[in-house]
Amino acid sequence: MLHAVVPAGGSGTRLWPLSRAQNPKFLHTLTGTDRSLLQATVDRLRLLSADDHMYVVTGSAHAVAVARQLPSCPESNILVEPSPRDSAAAIALAAAVIAERDENAVMGAFHADHLIADDEQFADTVSRAMELAEDGLLMTIGITPSGPETGYGYLRLGQPRGPGFQLAEFKEKPDQVSAVEYVSSGNYLWNAGMFVWRVDVFLAELAAQRPALHDTVRRLAAAWEAPERATLLDQLWPALERISVDYAVMEPAAAAGKVGVVPGNFGWNDIGDFDTLGSVLRPADQFGNVIVSSEDRPVLTVESKRNVLVPASGRLIATLGCDDMIVVDTDEAVLVATRDRAQEVKQIVDQLKETG
Ligand code: GDD
Ligand code: MG
Repeated sequence: MLHAVVPAGGSGTRLWPLSRAQNPKFLHTLTGTDRSLLQATVDRLRLLSADDHMYVVTGSAHAVAVARQLPSCPESNILVEPSPRDSAAAIALAAAVIAERDENAVMGAFHADHLIADDEQFADTVSRAMELAEDGLLMTIGITPSGPETGYGYLRLGQPRGPGFQLAEFKEKPDQVSAVEYVSSGNYLWNAGMFVWRVDVFLAELAAQRPALHDTVRRLAAAWEAPERATLLDQLWPALERISVDYAVMEPAAAAGKVGVVPGNFGWNDIGDFDTLGSVLRPADQFGNVIVSSEDRPVLTVESKRNVLVPASGRLIATLGCDDMIVVDTDEAVLVATRDRAQEVKQIVDQLKETG
């Protein structure tokens, strides 16, 4: 049975002011159901795993909210990190803790903030990746790219192998020119950010690529159930290298022929910004206006088209004669932007950080 890990740590700055460091996007209900992105992720993983085999790695600021949203997840499976050190540390810690419990376990890591249309197809794809993971490959899941996005990892397919392929190359976040080339070549898939592997295989690769990170998570995992866990975390965690698992492990492992991929066709979406969110949700009217809210909130649009409106404070949002806009109203801040600039919302967060 799969040990399913959900690293939930990013603050989702392109979804500001809805997603904030204190209230990140995975805790939100964005999809028109009453389940948050995190809850929907765990619901989906139940097709492959059981509650006592599911883990969430999250920051201390979110641990209480995560536990409240996931009452079925054993508290000891919510792994709390003192500060964000990026995905390599989060995923490696989970792998090491799982290895303490079962050294031959097959584990999968799945983002907390993806939208997936077909859960059955998703489970089927992951099961196929598990087959190749049993053979000792570090497995990824690949998505047919819909454009030259530079925020994703790119996977070049090699020889067919079982239900998937050997990976010829893993290129994380290429520049724009390379991304255009990759997509037009037809030889690349996007990395879905889902990894499946045997924990012993992953930890051996980590030891080869990032020995300090490996040794630290092993020490922490060995003491995880012991009273000295807190002291060790305080002592060791801040010194960990801040790097994503894609750069730290997947790129070099792929170059060494140790990575495989199973293509996935389950309606994958990384809802990173309000424009994407607007394009995946069903419009509320015939003019393409999208309202992002799980409750029935007041919105009035007059001669306005294709706007993405987020009435999070409960105040009325009214628009007149504006098209292709984003309006996000929260108790703390209001965002007004054009949809074509949705990717750049993180600039606002950066500037706010600078000015304090
Ligand atoms: N616990 C924890 N702590 N989780 C973290 C941390 C951290 O410090 N940093 C990131 N994560 C989690 C995020 O919550 C998310 O679930 C996952 O790790 C990936 O982090 P992102 O920061 O969202 O990565 P990305 O979007 O830039 O790129 C990754 O995902 C793309 C697909 O969405 C890469 O894997 C790309 O190759 C991939 O295409
Ligand atoms: Mg992401």
